Amino acid sequence: MRNVLVTGAHGQLGSHVIDLGTSSGSPVRGVGSAELDITDEAAVAAAVAPGSVVINCAAYTAVDAAETDEVAATAVNGHGPAVLARACADVGAALIHVSTDYVFAGDATQPYPVDARPDPRSAYGRSKLLGEQAVRAILPSAHVVRTAWVYTGEGNDFVATMRRLERDRDTVRVVDDQLGCPTYARDLAAGLLELAFRADSDPVPGGILHATNGGEATWYDLACAVFAGVGADPHRVLPCTSDEFVRPAPRPAYSVLDGQSWSAAGLTPLRPWREALEAALGALDAHA
Ligand SMILES: NC(=O)c1ccc[n+]([C@@H]2O[C@H](COP(=O)([O-])OP(=O)(O)OC[C@H]3O[C@@H](n4cnc5c(N)ncnc54)[C@H](OP(=O)(O)O)[C@@H]3O)[C@@H](O)[C@H]2O)c1
Repeated sequence: MRNVLVTGAHGQLGSHVIDLGTSSGSPVRGVGSAELDITDEAAVAAAVAPGSVVINCAAYTAVDAAETDEVAATAVNGHGPAVLARACADVGAALIHVSTDYVFAGDATQPYPVDARPDPRSAYGRSKLLGEQAVRAILPSAHVVRTAWVYTGEGNDFVATMRRLERDRDTVRVVDDQLGCPTYARDLAAGLLELAFRADSDPVPGGILHATNGGEATWYDLACAVFAGVGADPHRVLPCTSDEFVRPAPRPAYSVLDGQSWSAAGLTPLRPWREALEAALGALDAHA
């Protein structure tokens, strides 16, 4: 089994990759930004072992801040993946690079296939697209795995925020005109590890893959499901439009990703989003 190096290991996704990998006894090592800055060429070259697999979960993810700090976002999301891809290419390591639905315009009416034309509308989306392009140009055997609406239920993510608001407020207004795929970080982590360990026995050809939990939802749908999941009345969630919550970076109105490429590669499809949310809420309760 190949050694796996996870960058951005203290983030939402990276921490679940490490947790799942180590709990299953897999040779997984995580590095946070303090131990490995993915934009540091010498440090990255020293960290990537020959024949290993790198899962890049490191990113500049402050979508709104990126609008006024595109240089910083591009350094991490555009240049960083290029540095990783070069280091992997130099020593024969494999690379799995995580990307986002924000590379698309978000004005589709049906799920985006992997070969749909990217057309990012935000600085974050542009920076992530640069990273995808660099990875694919430098290391064609690499996998670019796009995902969307990732949550753990901890910290300040959407699910955690809804759990908190359910306790603090009578009602909460949530936008009901953006459609996407809520994705439990742990399910995506399992998918990334499955892809990584296929590198030995039955490698998946390099290219772009889409990995999200199944189905689609609006933020309002997700909020109602969180309320119901914690035993609260979902009618306390009130639908509203994006116009009522204007943010610095535009949000895609429709960014559902088509997971056909993932299942066609023989990878286990991520379960439907409602099942995943139920599991996530159960895990949070168990750890409370
Ligand atoms: N969250 C979502 O809804 C979502 C949706 C679609 C795609 N994605 C993608 O999924 C991946 C994982 O995102 P996430 O939600 O886990 O984000 P996250 O929680 O913000 O984690 C990102 C991690 O990257 C680290 N990082 C930042 N700059 C770095 C650098 N120069 N070198 C090394 N590490 C650096 C951060 O460390 P510090 O905190 O120490 O800076 C942080 O721990 C990203 O590629 C993201 O674009 C996320």
